[in-house]
Amino acid sequence: MCGIVGYVGEKQALQVVVDGLRRMEYRGYDSAGVAVVADGRLDVRKKAGKLANLESLLGSDPLAQSTTGIGHTRWATHGGPTDANAHPHVSADGSVAVIHNGIIENFAELRAELAAAGVVLASDTDTEVVAHLLAATLPEVGDDLAEAMRIVCRRLSGAFTLVAVRADRPDVVVGARRNSPLVVGRGDGENFLASDVSAFIAHTRHALELGQDQVVTLTRDSIVVTDFDGTPATPNAYEVTWDASAAEKGGYDTFMAKEIAEQPKAVADTLLGRIDVDGRLALDEMRMTDGELREVDKVVVIACGTAYHAGLVAKYALEHWTRLPCEVELASEFRYRDPVIDRRTLVVAISQSGETMDTLMALRYAREQDARVLAICNTQGSTIPRESDAVLYTHAGPEVAVASTKAFLTQLVACYLVALYVAQVRGNKFGDEIAMVVRELADMPRKIDLVLDTTEEVEALAAMLQDARSVLFIGRHVGYPVALEGALKLKELAYMHAEGFAAGELKHGPIALLEDRLPVIVVVPSPRGRSVLHEKIVSNVQEVRARGARTIVIAEEGDDAVVPYADHLVRVPECPTLLQPLLAAVPLQVFACAMATAKGHDVDQPRNLAKSVTVE
Ligand code: F6R
Repeated sequence: MCGIVGYVGEKQALQVVVDGLRRMEYRGYDSAGVAVVADGRLDVRKKAGKLANLESLLGSDPLAQSTTGIGHTRWATHGGPTDANAHPHVSADGSVAVIHNGIIENFAELRAELAAAGVVLASDTDTEVVAHLLAATLPEVGDDLAEAMRIVCRRLSGAFTLVAVRADRPDVVVGARRNSPLVVGRGDGENFLASDVSAFIAHTRHALELGQDQVVTLTRDSIVVTDFDGTPATPNAYEVTWDASAAEKGGYDTFMAKEIAEQPKAVADTLLGRIDVDGRLALDEMRMTDGELREVDKVVVIACGTAYHAGLVAKYALEHWTRLPCEVELASEFRYRDPVIDRRTLVVAISQSGETMDTLMALRYAREQDARVLAICNTQGSTIPRESDAVLYTHAGPEVAVASTKAFLTQLVACYLVALYVAQVRGNKFGDEIAMVVRELADMPRKIDLVLDTTEEVEALAAMLQDARSVLFIGRHVGYPVALEGALKLKELAYMHAEGFAAGELKHGPIALLEDRLPVIVVVPSPRGRSVLHEKIVSNVQEVRARGARTIVIAEEGDDAVVPYADHLVRVPECPTLLQPLLAAVPLQVFACAMATAKGHDVDQPRNLAKSVTVE
């Protein structure tokens, strides 16, 4: 959702800010704007639509030169995506410009208060009230923007990142955060504020995490952080481990295609350093003693969207390997149903961005109930790991395409590692059994590479099916979450009806959807091991085929039992059933990406979606 950049330094701020906004385009937005401080005034341009619209406005109506500026990409919440509602918002007296990410929940009351005081509001946004409140507060605090920000923030409820500049202070940018992301980039003679590090990674890799309810004041040479009461705070410094090229397309047509291709490396990187020479797992990041882990009597996974599907796979692995009961819950539902958790519950919060508000709120609730929270996260310095008891980072690198691919595979790996580690500590599995699974895991990057060899045939299939009205996905056991994930990818990218079902549920209703030539994608488990599962799904494929639907079957090499019932067959290498999602998900990602391309959609930024969902 909204992207925020603030800059103060020696360079032309406009260039830095617009480049930063471009690097954060992936977050999803529907209008954009910038403001610079020049000659004692604020020069602002903003425009509905993509950054290109703003740039063409800047071409015809250039901004003043300035080395201090702020910029924003807006994902509409209060008020439609119009020029007037785009950020920055400027106070009526022209003294302060503000950009904002999040939702100010008491904005109606504040708006009414301002209207009663004679302020005429120029937009429908919740943000604009902050600009007017700051302007009204400045005279009371000797024009100190940071102090005005602290006073105003104390009056706001909800989630917000705010960044402001003042017309008569050309060398200061002030930011504040509560529940929404904001990181500081520390440069040499220049400093940055941004929703995520990708906005300033081309300039510096030195970053500072801001805590909850903190205000930061940047000048070229200083970074001062306090809480909302003015008490000084020391932010956590960290180095970003990837460089600007990692967040570029690197020769691929889309970020999504690049990220699909990066999956073997992402999986290998996530395994790196977590297995010792004897094949034993070493997950120091769990920050739980063996005794504490042995006391756990239930695992609850909370996550949203694709991360939730990773959680569903985790349930199969955890229960099988550890014999601990595991529940998987959509984070947005979790805290509203009075869940039964206590200090013996291990809550696993899965999130690529580390900023998903639903997941954050669910984890806070879990901690309030004394549960211990382990985050599985891809974004260093983000809020979810910071507020968890422990974190296991996935090492997917920056995921720019809105549709999650490599993050999903690395979340699966992290879930397997946690499950195996718990089994190791609790003695549910013998060391040699764990070592065997770990060896299989270590071989998955090679196997994912082999699956990527099927990309062209899957793309051809998608081109052939692009006019289908709907696509169904079915699977059993861990193939079921893979089916859900395949359907989600297709919905979000191809904007078409797609649904995933547990194959055994078909006959309880969804089978009525089957019609002539309807594509049904079937995720077939390995015929080795749990062959009953395999036999059952072969029957399901036949049921589908008998009703005239077109079957696209994803099956293991050498599985010939399904061949007679497959209109199209996509092969994946042999692997243990529990690990198969790491392979079977890949052709489904390629399929959705190709389908969207065939339909002429923007693959990296699907309509209405945002990469990091920072509102509930
Ligand atoms: C789908 C997708 C979303 C995210 C969900 C959670 O492709 O990307 O469903 O998985 O919004 O996001 P994170 O993992 O950042 O919490």
